[in-house]
Amino acid sequence: MPVQPFISMYFIDTHAHIYLPEFDDDRAAALQRAQEANVKISILPAIDSSTHDTMLNVEATYENCYAMIGLHPCSVNQDYEKELNIIEKHLKQRKFIAIGEIGLDFYWDKTFTELQYQAFHKQIEVAIQNDLPIVIHSRNAIDECIDVVKEHPRVTGVFHCFSGNEEQARKIIDLGFMLGIGGVVTFKNAGLDKVIEKIGLTNVILETDAPYLAPVPYRGKRNEPAYIKLVAEKLSALSNLSMEEIAELTTENAKKLFKLR
Ligand code: NI
Repeated sequence: MPVQPFISMYFIDTHAHIYLPEFDDDRAAALQRAQEANVKISILPAIDSSTHDTMLNVEATYENCYAMIGLHPCSVNQDYEKELNIIEKHLKQRKFIAIGEIGLDFYWDKTFTELQYQAFHKQIEVAIQNDLPIVIHSRNAIDECIDVVKEHPRVTGVFHCFSGNEEQARKIIDLGFMLGIGGVVTFKNAGLDKVIEKIGLTNVILETDAPYLAPVPYRGKRNEPAYIKLVAEKLSALSNLSMEEIAELTTENAKKLFKLR
């Protein structure tokens, strides 16, 4: 009988905005709760230059937090090139774990659709030059984001907060990308549970998107990294894999994508 390999079970929250003001009153406690829930690592997605400093301060203050750098599609406007210059400056000074979050968001506002495309393409090129994965935000724009990614065959990354259908999931997997799965998989009527049952977990990584999109039973309340456990429990129920197996699989996927060792 083969020897059971030693599994040190832990989770990675691959998408947590714990530097936002929602955590100003209890950030240390929230990260402590994460450790207690075996969420050992939190990856911090950038939004724009208005929050870079607070993000980098949180990363420097707390252990096992890793910052990305990038311009969120909802922060793209006529001045986006200034923001990209700031990002390039940061990249010359130090290492980041990924370029993100970047992408397309046609839900809130379509004023800057064209500029969102430009910023997305340019940031993918920055990612390729710096040998970094990308973290994609795609709201009402999954197919459009898939099409953009197809134009850049050298890039890897994750479709953060994936909530699309089976066909879209398969296209993303075929591109070699990961699916970031969070609280939405616990929502009734979202349909993501059915998609996961069909496609399996080979390309899944876990995320909260804290402070947003808290899983059931905290839906509508503030989300935090410790709630990764609730997402993992849902995936365990959907896949018949144990919590240990979910942890091992998703953590390995995240470590590989973000080159964490
Ligand atoms: Ni986000």
